[in-house]
Amino acid sequence: MADRKIALVTGAGRGLGLGMARHLTRSGVAVLGTYLTSERAATEATEPDFVFCRLDVTRIDTFPQFVTAVRSTLRERFGVETFDYLVNNAGIGTYAPYAVTTPDQFDELVQINLKAPFFLTQALLPLINEGGRVLNVSTALTRGVVPGMSAYAATKGAIEVLTRYQAVELAERSIRVNTLMGGAVVTDFGGGIMRSPDVQKLAAQTIAQGRIATTDDITAVVPAILSDAFQWATGAIIDVSGGQSL
Ligand SMILES: NC(=O)c1ccc[n+]([C@@H]2O[C@H](COP(=O)([O-])OP(=O)(O)OC[C@H]3O[C@@H](n4cnc5c(N)ncnc54)[C@H](OP(=O)(O)O)[C@@H]3O)[C@@H](O)[C@H]2O)c1
Repeated sequence: MADRKIALVTGAGRGLGLGMARHLTRSGVAVLGTYLTSERAATEATEPDFVFCRLDVTRIDTFPQFVTAVRSTLRERFGVETFDYLVNNAGIGTYAPYAVTTPDQFDELVQINLKAPFFLTQALLPLINEGGRVLNVSTALTRGVVPGMSAYAATKGAIEVLTRYQAVELAERSIRVNTLMGGAVVTDFGGGIMRSPDVQKLAAQTIAQGRIATTDDITAVVPAILSDAFQWATGAIIDVSGGQSL
């Protein structure tokens, strides 16, 4: 087990997080995934190299207990107490035209998409191995404006800035920090807005490849980004949006 890499992926029970976890395990990386509502995915995960811990990323007060739970899960399942890769995938999207976005909508987006990865990464730092990786998740909506997504895109723009600061401040432990910029893809995101054929058609018109992504289009690259082949990239935005809003 000593040479085996271990990734912690937040929101690994469905959508892009589940895709990332599956590509990681297929490439030989063990995954500790987190879930909140995807209890079924968590309880039905029978692969020995894919385990789950429950986490509500809005509950920063519970992060110390979560760190303890991660440590004991790593010890029991993999015989180690630290891991190599942290993927801050859990996130929400809320459609709200700028003029009518409420403070509650704004706060929820900031809480889940920005404050949570900021403090979760901080809490998990003692468990991330020297030379490890942190991968934050952003969106092509930080580049191209889609009306109704201002608060969401602002939280993701902040993640891109945070990534560069983390890249510099964590370099003393040789931890590389990058942003994965995803693009339009069908998941439960935004209450399932991406399942609407009209939304898909509109989004496809902004994408160089002429269609929206499958989850594999975006997640298959994650093992490579976290691997040693990518070790000289840090503070970077890695665009896997199919050329959205170029
Ligand atoms: N879909 C897109 O078009 C798109 C494009 C670019 C970037 N992204 C980004 O990709 C990431 C994943 O989104 P997705 O498309 O896979 O959406 P999704 O299918 O709606 O999945 C959201 C994930 O976030 C987790 N989550 C939400 N609130 C949470 C909380 N309070 N505590 C813990 N976990 C929480 C969910 O956990 P449970 O399943 O346990 O509820 C779920 O795994 C997000 O950061 C999103 O911004 C999405």
